[in-house]
Amino acid sequence: MKIALACDHGAFDHKEAIREELLKRGFEIEDFGCYSSASVDYPDTVYPAVKSVALGKNEFGVVLCGTGIGASIVANKVKGIRCALVYDTQTAAITREHNNTNVLAMGGRLVTPDEAVEIALTWLNTLYPADPRHQRRIDKITAVEAKEGEHDERC
Ligand code: RB5
Repeated sequence: MKIALACDHGAFDHKEAIREELLKRGFEIEDFGCYSSASVDYPDTVYPAVKSVALGKNEFGVVLCGTGIGASIVANKVKGIRCALVYDTQTAAITREHNNTNVLAMGGRLVTPDEAVEIALTWLNTLYPADPRHQRRIDKITAVEAKEGEHDERC
């Protein structure tokens, strides 16, 4: 399974810990940076990472910034991306089961690197059960996305 990773300086250690653990477990990683704890703007790393998921080059993405908020906002701007910002394993599992999320966001100032690894593994190891109730709701999200992409006559 191919995973896109991205972070800003607020979660560099977390991204490194996730990368090392996923590589040990046989995942393929595309690392979009950052590559040190020097300050960077999270859209610069997160956007190419989530775009690679939207284009099918990577199956899932894990994106991090200080809070995870900016990273999740960027991710959810990209068509085809369903990104959830979580801080624990319970919501990580639920968002795979209910929302079939393809990108996970976390905040380096809110969870430790070890917790981030555990949350990412929980999320990646939880299958989407394709329950019709949840699929209906996800289809409606996709419909909202399509409608927002249409030309707005009022502009
Ligand atoms: C960077 O200082 C910080 O704003 C960023 O990591 C993130 O928390 C934004 O949502």
